Amino acid sequence: MHNVENLTEDIFWIGVNDRKTQRFENYLPLDKGVSYNSYLILDEKVALIDTVEIGTSESFLEKLEGVLGDRKVDYLIINHMEPDHAGAIKDVIRLYPDIMLVGNAKTFPMLDAFYDCSKERCMNNRMVIKDGDTLELGKHTLNFAMVPMVHWPESMVTFESFTGTLFSNDAFGSFGSLDGGIFDDQLNLDFYEDEMRRYYSNIVGKYGVQTQNAIKKLSGLDIKCIAPCHGPIWRTDIAKVIKHYDAWSKMEPESEGVVIVYGSMYGNTEKMANSIASQLAKEGIVNIKMYDASKTDHSYIISDIWKYQGLIIGSCSHNNAVYPKVQPILSKLQNYGLKNRYLGIFGNMMWSGGGVRGIQAFADSLRGVEVIGESVEVKGTPKPADYAKLEAIAIAMADKLKEVRK
Ligand code: FEO
Repeated sequence: MHNVENLTEDIFWIGVNDRKTQRFENYLPLDKGVSYNSYLILDEKVALIDTVEIGTSESFLEKLEGVLGDRKVDYLIINHMEPDHAGAIKDVIRLYPDIMLVGNAKTFPMLDAFYDCSKERCMNNRMVIKDGDTLELGKHTLNFAMVPMVHWPESMVTFESFTGTLFSNDAFGSFGSLDGGIFDDQLNLDFYEDEMRRYYSNIVGKYGVQTQNAIKKLSGLDIKCIAPCHGPIWRTDIAKVIKHYDAWSKMEPESEGVVIVYGSMYGNTEKMANSIASQLAKEGIVNIKMYDASKTDHSYIISDIWKYQGLIIGSCSHNNAVYPKVQPILSKLQNYGLKNRYLGIFGNMMWSGGGVRGIQAFADSLRGVEVIGESVEVKGTPKPADYAKLEAIAIAMADKLKEVRK
C-alpha cells in the first residue's frame, strides 16, 4: 500500500499531508503545511486512532481501506473532537456502520454538537471510557488517560502497552507536513522544532498548567514511541520532545536572546527599533529577532517570544491606542499569561500618544513579566537625546540577560 508507513508490524500510519489549506483554524498560516496523523492497529480486533480533517478524507479512506482489505474497523478511538481529527468520523461510520466509537463522557456531546449524528446507526454504538480504563484488542492493549485542555476539555491520549506507543493527539504535535520521512530520525528536526514551538505556543500555550499535569500523569509510562496527530513521530529522541514540552508549558525560555517587535506607520518607530537592536549587538547579544508586526504573522512572533528571554515591544500611536498590528500580539500574550520574560517598551506619540500607554497597561496586567529600564516615548523622528534613552533600554536588557547567564 502506497503512502502508508509502519510504526510496527501491526500499527500503521495512515495520515495525510495537507499542503493546500492556507490557515490552520482559519487563522494560523500553514506556509509549510501540516499533517493529520491517523493510526490503524490490526489485531484480533481492529482499532482506528483518530481520523483526519474532512478535506483530506478521500486520501485517508483510500489508505484505510487499502490496509484493511476485507477486514472492518471494530473501534474508532476519538482522542479529540476538534475537526482536524474528527472531520472524517462520519465518513468512517458510513463505511463501517457497525463500528464502536470510543470516547469519554465529554466526547459524545461534542460529536453530536459538531456533526449531528442523529441519523447515523452509531448512536447506540458508543463506548464511554474513563481515565485509566483499558481496551483489549488481542496482543495490543489500549490504555486511556484524560488530558483535559491539551487541547480541549474532552482531550485524551491512548497508550498502547504492548509496543509502548503513546497516541498523544495534539500533545507533542507540530506544524509542517511530513515530506518523506515520518519519524524523528528521518527528518531535519531544526525545522520541526521551530514548527512544534509555533504549534505549541499558539494552540496549547494558554494551558501550561494542564500540559504540566499531563506530562506528570504520563511520566510513569514506559513510552517507546510518541505518535501525535500532527508532525513527526518520535521513536528515537523521545526525551527531546518531552523536554521541550516541559519547558514550553512552564514558559521557560530556551535561549538567550531578544525579540524586538514593532509597529511603525511612517518609519520613526522602526528607527527606534533599529537603534535598540544595534546597541544590543554592541552589548554582545547575538540572538536578536526583529519583527515588523505589519508583515510577519503573529504566530511566528509568538513562537520566538516563547523561545527567548528578552522582549522589547514598540508601537506608534493609532487613535489614542496601540497600533492595530501590534495589539493582537499583546492580547494573545495577555490571554496566555506570559511570564518569565524581561520586557522593554518604546513607541511614538505624535499628538496624543496611546501606543506606549497601551504597552505599559499590558505589562501591568502580567505578574510574571519584569519591565526593564525606562519606557521611551518619542514625538516624531527620534533626536539624539531619544537615541540615548533607547540605547539605555538595550543596555539594561543586555545586563539582565548577562546576569542570568552567570
Ligand atoms: Fe489538532 Fe486541537 O486539534
